[in-house]
Amino acid sequence: MPQLFTPITLGGVTFANRIAVSPMCQYSATDGVPNDWHAQHLASLSMSGAGLLVVEMTAVEPEGRITPHCLGLYSDATEAAFEPILATCRRWGTAKLGIQLAHAGRKGSVRVPWEGGTPLAGNAGAWQTYASSAIPFDEEWHTPQALDDAGLARIRDGFVASARRADRLGFELVELHGAHGYLLHNFVSPISNRRNDAYGGSLANRMRFPLEVAAAVRAVWPRDKALGMRITGSDWIDGGLTAEDAAVFANELHGIGFDYVCVSSGGISPQARVALGPGYQVPFAETVKKQSKIAVQSVGLIVDPHLAEAIITEGRADCVALARGFLDDPRWGWHAADALGAEIAHPPQYHRARPRLWPGAALVRR
Ligand SMILES: Cc1cc2nc3c(=O)[nH]c(=O)nc-3n(C[C@H](O)[C@H](O)[C@H](O)COP(=O)(O)O)c2cc1C
Repeated sequence: MPQLFTPITLGGVTFANRIAVSPMCQYSATDGVPNDWHAQHLASLSMSGAGLLVVEMTAVEPEGRITPHCLGLYSDATEAAFEPILATCRRWGTAKLGIQLAHAGRKGSVRVPWEGGTPLAGNAGAWQTYASSAIPFDEEWHTPQALDDAGLARIRDGFVASARRADRLGFELVELHGAHGYLLHNFVSPISNRRNDAYGGSLANRMRFPLEVAAAVRAVWPRDKALGMRITGSDWIDGGLTAEDAAVFANELHGIGFDYVCVSSGGISPQARVALGPGYQVPFAETVKKQSKIAVQSVGLIVDPHLAEAIITEGRADCVALARGFLDDPRWGWHAADALGAEIAHPPQYHRARPRLWPGAALVRR
């Protein structure tokens, strides 16, 4: 049996295999509310063969969105709109459902990528952004407001309120977004955090706010579900975060009672230079796995099923997530199972695509 297709238990949830559909922003919501785009996107990926499908970065307050079209889970309207979509995924799909909760911080208030991804003009609905320090992401970007104690408390409470909504919606996993330059990463990274209070300076101080958020969410998120954070394995910039820093952070999260970390990288500054290649973030995951006790997910250009299998069998990570691979091939899990010789669940409506599940189907024309 390929290791990729063995079950994995995170917290109180057992997933059928070690493959996740990575969260992917769709920039298609209105006022944070998901619609029929999300319905078909998520329903399709819930039948992809992955054991876990994580809904895209979803903001905990309107100002926490990247673009005006990002998802939110901060109001009764946003919560209610998820219900029928998740019901469809559960009724027909095979993946368990998770959601990534986030605050975009200083990378918010921008246009959708296909309109350039650049900062919104004031007359196009720009909003005040927030960060650890009042330093813009890049020239011509919005200058964020450095969060004061009241702002920190508001955002921490926003994460808690969204986690409660996610629980009510029946999500079995919550992942906090602590990477890609968004607010929680913005605190941890020395590149963006220039505070000189208890939330800046040493790594312990820079981790303080994300860990406060993590502890507050842990307090309300049920232990029989799964809880994790996407963290940064490298800022890809001199003086930035390293995999060793990620391991320290992961150990703190483990101490709080988190069940897993997903080790990603990049996004803190336009100056970062990422060295891309197959499995390019696996070494960071491996360092975190060696230096901590928490379960580790690896992500990033893992497309070949044999590479995914090797990452697990070589003990470099406990599970993998794929993003673009699933956009390109929404049945990646089926094809990986074929390539590695594993059996996985398929919706019976699609059995005819698998002759062994529908003997004689190839001979019958209907
Ligand atoms: C369309 C798209 C949207 C993405 N949105 C998110 C997101 O919402 N949250 C996140 O943590 N990463 C996001 N990412 C990053 C992916 O989850 C993943 O980490 C990255 O693409 C590397 O994996 P891949 O090589 O399998 O695509 C996004 C990537 C793509 C391609």
